[in-house]
Amino acid sequence: MSTQDIATLRQRTQGALEAHRKAARTVTVLSCLLAAHDALGYLPQEAIEEVARSTDHTINDVWGVASFYTNFRFTSPGEHTVEVCWGPTCHLVGAMNVLQAVQEALGLQGEGETADGRISLKYNTCLGACSQAPVIRSDEHVLGGMTPARALALLASLRHKQT
Ligand code: FES
Repeated sequence: MSTQDIATLRQRTQGALEAHRKAARTVTVLSCLLAAHDALGYLPQEAIEEVARSTDHTINDVWGVASFYTNFRFTSPGEHTVEVCWGPTCHLVGAMNVLQAVQEALGLQGEGETADGRISLKYNTCLGACSQAPVIRSDEHVLGGMTPARALALLASLRHKQT
């Protein structure tokens, strides 16, 4: 990573933490980590250091909090994120067929990033849209009535979409 990229990560984290401090009633290490994670999509070392600095804790303290929560990721996500719901309702109406098609198309055995870094695959246990099951979230869009064919069309459109 270049020096400029590192400086940009620090600036973006500082901006997120500043906005968080203005908006939040209570500022904690965890709330700052969430703010940084929302802004960057993951928690690089630079974000951990900025949270430590802004909350007056040690870097080890902040890592201790961050590493406790499995929802935080510490490597950069793909340009697009596809979350396949495999919760009970989606499972009953075909989520596993959708998931299998998505994994095969992306060349993945489980969650992770495609080799070209374009798409991240995540699992979800409920996207809150059970009435539309099976459901996928594509970046910020929740898409219901998913089938393997619709999922493959979605992946094809994401591969060609500019970020
Ligand atoms: S179980 Fe899939 S959206 Fe609720």
